[in-house]
Amino acid sequence: MRWTTAKIRQSFLDFFAARGHTIVPSASLIPKGDPTLLFTNAGMVQFKDYFLGVRSPQHLRVADCQKCLRISGKHNDLEAVGRDTYHHTFFEMLGNWSFGDYYKQEAIRWHWELITKVWEIDPKLLYATVHKDDKEAEDIWLKMGVLPRERILRFGDKDNFWEMGETGPCGPNSEISIDRGEGACLPEKNHPGQKCFVNVDGCERFIEIGNLVFIQYNRDASGALMPLAKKHVDTGTGLERTTAALQSIETGKILGNYDIDLFQMIINTIDEITNVARIVIPGSKTPVVPSYGTSPENDISFRAIADHARTISFLVAEGLNPGNTDRDYVLRRLIRRAARHGRYLGIHEPFLAKICDSVRYAMGEAYPELGKHSARIRKVVTEEEVRFGETLDRGLELIDTELARIKKSGGRMLSGEVAFKLYDTYGFPLDLTEDVLRNHLIEVDVAGFNRLMDEQKERGRAARKDDAVAPEISLGTGTASRFIGYHRYEGESEVLAAGGKDGEHVAVVVAETPFYPEGGGQVGDRGVIETASGAILEVSDTRKAEGSIVHVGRIIHGEAGDFARGARVKLKVDRIRRDAAMLNHSATHILHYALRDILGNTVHQAGSLVDPDKLRFDFAHAGPVKDDALATIEEEINARIRENAEVTTEEMAYDDAIKAGALAFFGDKYGDRVRVVRMGDFSVELCGGTHISRTGDVGVFKLEAESGVAAGVRRIEAVTGQGALETIRKREKILEEIGAQLGARDGAAIERLEKLLAREKELEKKLRAMEQKLAAGAGGAAAEEEVREAGGIKIVTRKLDGVDPRTMREMADRLRQKHGSAVVALGSDLGDGKVAILVAVTPDLTAKIKAGDIIKNIAPIVGGTGGGRPDLAQAGGRDASKLDEALAKVAALVQ
Ligand code: SER
Repeated sequence: MRWTTAKIRQSFLDFFAARGHTIVPSASLIPKGDPTLLFTNAGMVQFKDYFLGVRSPQHLRVADCQKCLRISGKHNDLEAVGRDTYHHTFFEMLGNWSFGDYYKQEAIRWHWELITKVWEIDPKLLYATVHKDDKEAEDIWLKMGVLPRERILRFGDKDNFWEMGETGPCGPNSEISIDRGEGACLPEKNHPGQKCFVNVDGCERFIEIGNLVFIQYNRDASGALMPLAKKHVDTGTGLERTTAALQSIETGKILGNYDIDLFQMIINTIDEITNVARIVIPGSKTPVVPSYGTSPENDISFRAIADHARTISFLVAEGLNPGNTDRDYVLRRLIRRAARHGRYLGIHEPFLAKICDSVRYAMGEAYPELGKHSARIRKVVTEEEVRFGETLDRGLELIDTELARIKKSGGRMLSGEVAFKLYDTYGFPLDLTEDVLRNHLIEVDVAGFNRLMDEQKERGRAARKDDAVAPEISLGTGTASRFIGYHRYEGESEVLAAGGKDGEHVAVVVAETPFYPEGGGQVGDRGVIETASGAILEVSDTRKAEGSIVHVGRIIHGEAGDFARGARVKLKVDRIRRDAAMLNHSATHILHYALRDILGNTVHQAGSLVDPDKLRFDFAHAGPVKDDALATIEEEINARIRENAEVTTEEMAYDDAIKAGALAFFGDKYGDRVRVVRMGDFSVELCGGTHISRTGDVGVFKLEAESGVAAGVRRIEAVTGQGALETIRKREKILEEIGAQLGARDGAAIERLEKLLAREKELEKKLRAMEQKLAAGAGGAAAEEEVREAGGIKIVTRKLDGVDPRTMREMADRLRQKHGSAVVALGSDLGDGKVAILVAVTPDLTAKIKAGDIIKNIAPIVGGTGGGRPDLAQAGGRDASKLDEALAKVAALVQ
């Protein structure tokens, strides 16, 4: 193939490099510091600031090949993926840019030259479009004289005005489209009565292969277009569709995006798995062995899996994990959708890791991150597949039952309750349920679903506030309370308000309390409140609400009435718990200081959690913190602890505090007067929390983990004091246990372990070799290989007994090697009437003879169907008595 995907990618970059462009790498799929976008959806995203004039570019002309996702926000193609042959969630976009340098003239001229001279597309197939008000672009096309007037078309904003999102840089564009001929027109049923043409959706005949955007505006949050100081060029050319167009021209066949060389590698792997799945999994529901290109319905699943595997691979490579919010949920939804499509093809085992491997084979050279993170990709994908696999079948069954019911009653809608049950109990994301139902023209009551979802969230919120029941309490004037617990754990006061639901779970507000209410990341205090009459309230949490401090808990002695307004009470904080939380809170201040000291002042707190057992600190920072930096940070913190610096607090005016260099956490609101916490000469922070009096009280600080929680946000987890000691001891015990099991300690244990692992590998290899020998021996007993000739071509057949499809493939490889040039046909009797057959063709013959064709012809003889690639195809069947006949027919077919 002359125009492989890789060559097209390179030819584009070479072309623009020769025209003064600097080639830059693709940016991450997760936009850095751009909260308006979930994912990079176009090449220009990483250059947005240059267009807006916020940053100055290093080079005025740039070109690249950018990984893009269109799965959220303004550009979302998820629903179309699989259903046609040219939509993707992930795709590669070739682009060239001018940042205030060249403009329409060069952009148009060069693209035309690239398409017609380098890629040699016949101008007769091409059309250009311009925005109806863009006289300048239209004139450039006319003056170039390369296209007749009637093939330069004007369109309005919908087609010829490009925007990256609801806000951001934008402008009119000019597009180049190719007419791929009537053969590329989708069946009439897809668009009855439609006249297919440029910019008419739903057909694959006219495809845009170049989008030249002339960026001259910024759309602001109010929706207004603001002219930019400079004019820019932003171009985008979809790599997959360009490849499909060029490979179609080259092969004389109409190829869709999923037929190009890159996708073939991925689709073939799915093919292989469906073949094997059909043979080794008894009772599979799928009636035939699905192969790509044999059934329109199955093809949707093939394409969806191939597409999703690419997106999944890249997202995991960029550090995402499947989860329940934002980007993580997108990843989870994709893995679950892919798993569901696998079921449709009869695959009941986790299989996505294998597909992701083939993505790596197809794309790893251009994107080394796929190779670098391959182990993580396999692990993350398989874990999620297994998790979902446990409920997927039951969920699909529920959908089937519901469908039958709805159809019987003539309805058109699945209830919100069922959709919610699918989500809540079976882990079906809403869009997955919708996708399954779309084939049946049934909709989901989304409003009903959302209502149940909101209710659940509400319940969750209430449950989090109190382990059992969230007591109601009415607060207002006269219920404001004062915190007196900075240096005290006990106090006496009067009840100002009380509430409750069931006489047991109550909420109490007093005038003055030593209980610290949750705030600044520090958890609320626990303890007891007692009345003079002996009633006891066990406080499980303390929170702030509208100027009051609310103690929430359970009455363990007496009754709710004892805590009515006006009652005198004694309050006692659980001191051990508070002290532990306090240690951790002070430790976060030292950590914050050390992070800024070692990583730089760009580090800012983004959130924190301080509880008695551990601390968690989130902060803005690009990329992971390196191990050696982490070690230095830990060192620095412990040095500051040993320094035993004094911790002081002081109230002052906010402005004075900021002038004094105090760090404020912008997530918090501050009043005019603020509390400032200082530690020695190194840390000054605004903080309302409780602190130790000397840094030495922390004892020891042990860093436990560093990870990413969102784009540009890192998280550090650590333990201090007694908690640190316990963690270290626990780890010591584990090491001792490992040492005891291995019969060697410390360094010697590592050596011993290495030896054991090497030995295990060796044994596995030996075992595998023996299994093969055994299998070959058993097959040999059934029959030796037979060699004959037909039409000058060597045909090798062999009947086997109980040899599994995987071993058959290995045998076929050996036979192909042994005979050099041959058609190899193997048939294996798997017992119970079941058979597996395999045809393999050496590469020199595949132009004339296709393994897939032969298998399609002989599979029916044994009561099966099958397919595969030109060099290897497999099938299963149910009539072992016809195995000889099927193998004998191969010679006739070759002839
Ligand atoms: N930004 C335009 C697009 O995404 C051109 O690169 O199509």
